[in-house]
Amino acid sequence: MTDRIDPALPKAELHLHLEGAAPPAFIRALAREKSIDIHKIFDESGGYAYRDFWHFLEVYEAACTTLQGPEDLRRLTLAVLEDRAEDGVVYAETFLSPDFCGGGDLAAWREYLHAIREAAEQAERTMGITLRGCITAIRHFGPEKSRRTALCAAETVGDFITGFGIAGDEKAGHPRDFTWAFDCAREAGLRLTAHAGEWGGPESVRATLDHLKVERIGHGVRAIEDLALVERLAEDRVVLEVCPGSNVALGVYPSFARHPVARLRDREVVVTLSTDDPPFFHTTLRREYDALAAAFGWTEDDFRAINADAMRAAFCDEATRERLLKTIEGRA
Ligand code: HPA
Ligand code: ZN
Repeated sequence: MTDRIDPALPKAELHLHLEGAAPPAFIRALAREKSIDIHKIFDESGGYAYRDFWHFLEVYEAACTTLQGPEDLRRLTLAVLEDRAEDGVVYAETFLSPDFCGGGDLAAWREYLHAIREAAEQAERTMGITLRGCITAIRHFGPEKSRRTALCAAETVGDFITGFGIAGDEKAGHPRDFTWAFDCAREAGLRLTAHAGEWGGPESVRATLDHLKVERIGHGVRAIEDLALVERLAEDRVVLEVCPGSNVALGVYPSFARHPVARLRDREVVVTLSTDDPPFFHTTLRREYDALAAAFGWTEDDFRAINADAMRAAFCDEATRERLLKTIEGRA
């Protein structure tokens, strides 16, 4: 029996959807306040209920209908950061979707962002957790919306909004449909990541690298099906934001033991660990670490090294990176 990993180990989490991290009780309370009937998205124990990934996206979007103004996002950000701080996270990046914050309208987005930022600053003061935002287009909303999202990102890039990416249904469209959005974000100085290699195979990861020129890939795990691609990822130091519990919960892999994260790491791909949408997948980073320790015999030193790699790949300024690397490496 593998020992549990120290729950207080300082952690860096790069792949976390803000709306997807909403506790179900939080969304239920908002729905009640606003008389929105979304009882169908919950199971009898009060958790989110979904059948598969595509249904998960529908349930996710239904939950987002309760988020109707900046004040809701302020409360959500605080609730999510409280949970992450309790999980030992010292640095988090969160995907933020202007599509769910004012429908992609720039003036509305600025108001939502102001509230999210204020909550992040409060959490940093009171809980010692640092947050940065990565604006995210939703792939199945199409290329036109992705351009509006990229413009929101380009207009609000700064010391808090540091990244741009794309999530949603990987089977919708092709990466080349989104080059305008990614070029726009890159030219504005944003750093880039994209979901790929979760529901699409190695060809999806290749096309994402070729067309969107990202430095990190969200998931990317199905690259394991093509060892030449694995070599390319390792050689080019492309960072994978791996979310094993998400992949197991959604049925990409049947178990932690069968998950390719250890094989990717053995082949010198830079892997980082995140929870994706923790309440949907009944996970936390602590649970991920314990499950990975049990499956692969990984020790505290492995997790410390993975967290240091995550901090090196973080979309933040150098002073923040150096400060938090010290914490993660136990030099603080
Ligand atoms: N994949 C794609 N889109 C998403 C996810 C995910 O894991 N979580 C929230 N949106
Ligand atoms: Zn994701």
